Amino acid sequence: AQQKSTITLASQDNAPTINKHIYGHFAEHLGRCIYDGFYVGENSKIPNTNGVRNDIIVALKDLGIPNLRWPGGCFADTYHWKDGIGPKDERPTMVNQWWGGTTEDNSFGTHDFLDLCEILGTEPYLAANVGSGTVKEFTDWVQYVNHSGKSPMSDLRKKNSREKAWGVSIWGVGNEMWGCGGNMTPEYYANLFKQYSTFMSDWDNTNKLFRIASGANVADYHWTEVLMRDIPKNLIEGVALHSYSFVTWEKKGSSTKFNEEQYFATMETALKMEELVTKHSEIMDKYDPAKKIALIVDEWGGWYDVEEGTNPGFLYQQNTMRDAMIAGTTLNIFNNHSDRVRMANLAQTVNVLQAVILTKGDKMLLTPTYHVMHLYKVHQDAKLIPIKVDSPEYKFGDKKLSAISASASVKDGKTHISLVNIHAKDKITVDIDLAKLNLKDFTAKIISSSKLQDHNTFENPNAITPKDFKDFKFKKGTLSVTLPPFSVVVLESK
Ligand code: AHR
Repeated sequence: AQQKSTITLASQDNAPTINKHIYGHFAEHLGRCIYDGFYVGENSKIPNTNGVRNDIIVALKDLGIPNLRWPGGCFADTYHWKDGIGPKDERPTMVNQWWGGTTEDNSFGTHDFLDLCEILGTEPYLAANVGSGTVKEFTDWVQYVNHSGKSPMSDLRKKNSREKAWGVSIWGVGNEMWGCGGNMTPEYYANLFKQYSTFMSDWDNTNKLFRIASGANVADYHWTEVLMRDIPKNLIEGVALHSYSFVTWEKKGSSTKFNEEQYFATMETALKMEELVTKHSEIMDKYDPAKKIALIVDEWGGWYDVEEGTNPGFLYQQNTMRDAMIAGTTLNIFNNHSDRVRMANLAQTVNVLQAVILTKGDKMLLTPTYHVMHLYKVHQDAKLIPIKVDSPEYKFGDKKLSAISASASVKDGKTHISLVNIHAKDKITVDIDLAKLNLKDFTAKIISSSKLQDHNTFENPNAITPKDFKDFKFKKGTLSVTLPPFSVVVLESK
């Protein structure tokens, strides 16, 4: 069947810029994300730079990742950074209590991560330990990485062969403090946040700190309310939010063997992000009408059962066209809310949850999610063009969702429109009214496949890649684009 949708682009006079940090990533010490993912060690046969796989470095540079969050997640509130510096053979081991109970040798630590960020040209986002740490341990870390003058921690850094401070601006003050970070109430955490934040110095004053409070779980609006009410604005720059997509939390199902009912249910939770950022933003507006404090969705993505035969604590899953739908729609939501949502982190970069990269031995593949983010990178730091979408419904049983999601932006004279059709069966023609923008010529790329369950494998790593797309025509100020079922298209004005 074929259906119709219309999109109207509004005036951009007061529109915000889409912060590039919305396109951020997340690398936790979890399963095979760091060890046997990013990091294979200097002595590996796999080509590497300081132990980090070169193929991953190339892929992430090409993706233009603006920031990388590390070392957790839940792991962050168990991590003692001083165990991960100094000669590698002298570092103590630790047991990863949240993720599979594996023993780690701390060979990937602060220097390894921050040097990697320099190589990638990406901003580090350090998520620091509040749950099982101390104010002293936390502020020592800030001094270690940021102080250029003479101080106990900068001396230690120099002793460990790093003269220049890295200058880390983005800091997470604990993670999921309502759960794995310490099972706290928001009132208790707000007090702790104030204490930690007070002692976080930006030292040289060259590197303004961006302090992020551990945020709400999904629709816990009370959490956001209390943080916004209790924390003075001079102590905080961002409030986080975590929300994952799944069939149901209890029965997540396979990442590749799912039916349409399970697909629909996953998209229902993914599209819920619209309501979540709207409602959390409304609360923030009450206390911060000038929108000084950013909403940071620093964990999002699809979460399914682990692949058969893999460690349940490692969260290793495949990545299909369903994930491409989650990525395309979620990033459109963030773009359209970029007045308040100014940073986000997909969980997680390599081999964990909705990864952009999967590895097996010396092999590596890019997932459909990677390709969506690659097409969407044109929105980074572009000016948002607000749009109105009139979408047909995608119905399943007695439930319905909007089939079409879209966002648009302009940068360096080029306009980009990203469109997603999540309908499992119908193609949809989208009429975009471009009269106001005086645009005529477009090129486009598409990500699509014949089955929703299709994915890239180590045997066939390029089954799903972006292709040139030509199924659109221009007539009297209207661009008509025909989107196949479950497809992502990004148009670029010439
Ligand atoms: O991303 C996996 C886990 O999900 C993180 O460690 C935690 O913060 C969240 O619950």
